[in-house]
Amino acid sequence: MTATRGFGIDIGGSGIKGALVDLAEGRLIGDRLRIDTPQPATPAAVAEVVAEIVRHFDWEGPVGITLPAVIKKGVAQTAANIDPSWIGTDADGLFAERLGRHVDDVAMLNDADAAGMAEMRFGDPAGRTGVVALLTFGTGIGSALFHDGKLVPNTEFGHLEVDGHDAEKKAAASVKDNEGLSYPDWAKRVDRYLTVLENLIWPDLFIVGGGVSKKSEKWVPLLDIRTRVVVASLQNNAGIVGAAAAAVEGIEH
Ligand code: BGC
Repeated sequence: MTATRGFGIDIGGSGIKGALVDLAEGRLIGDRLRIDTPQPATPAAVAEVVAEIVRHFDWEGPVGITLPAVIKKGVAQTAANIDPSWIGTDADGLFAERLGRHVDDVAMLNDADAAGMAEMRFGDPAGRTGVVALLTFGTGIGSALFHDGKLVPNTEFGHLEVDGHDAEKKAAASVKDNEGLSYPDWAKRVDRYLTVLENLIWPDLFIVGGGVSKKSEKWVPLLDIRTRVVVASLQNNAGIVGAAAAAVEGIEH
């Protein structure tokens, strides 16, 4: 029997969001709960918030959790927008213990990989063939690369060096806000970034997501690149949906 309900938590640089997920439809069931990411975002402080969210929903099943980090077999390997003490942390073990669950009932994934997996299942079917890169524009830039719907995990294209800079330091959505850039000015930076990326991986399609994809009409039409660009269908909830699906299916990379 396939479970039709799951639970996902998306840990970001500014907020930690959790919700019940309908896995047949790829939609949230009811409202999500968002709590500000504690600062510093240490493993213990984040685990406390995650436990609070799970408690709030009274959820007892498996939990999928994303982190803005490279995750190998449940262990965080990087920490660009979270506390450096995450590096080397067995996130799977930490959350399993804090949530009183077996490690097999906690799935840890990179946030963009989780969002991408949700898009593959529930988004535009055009994303399921060929080489497809999903990019999330938020605090940083996340990436998920697929070939015929199959994920190549932990690609970290947000850290590509573009014109001598870490790409996300120039083209993340947070940079637009912090530097007070207009959409056209920010779109120029995204355009430059995507041009460098498309020249390296020659994708058939880019899917753009993250909070800023809600205002896609203000910047996506300004992009002048070779590759077709579509907006993520699940928008900002894709990470939660992908995490919930991974937990139920026992997917971890
Ligand atoms: C991190 C990635 C993450 C992305 C989006 C980057 O800074 O290195 O792991 O997917 O931000 O949150």
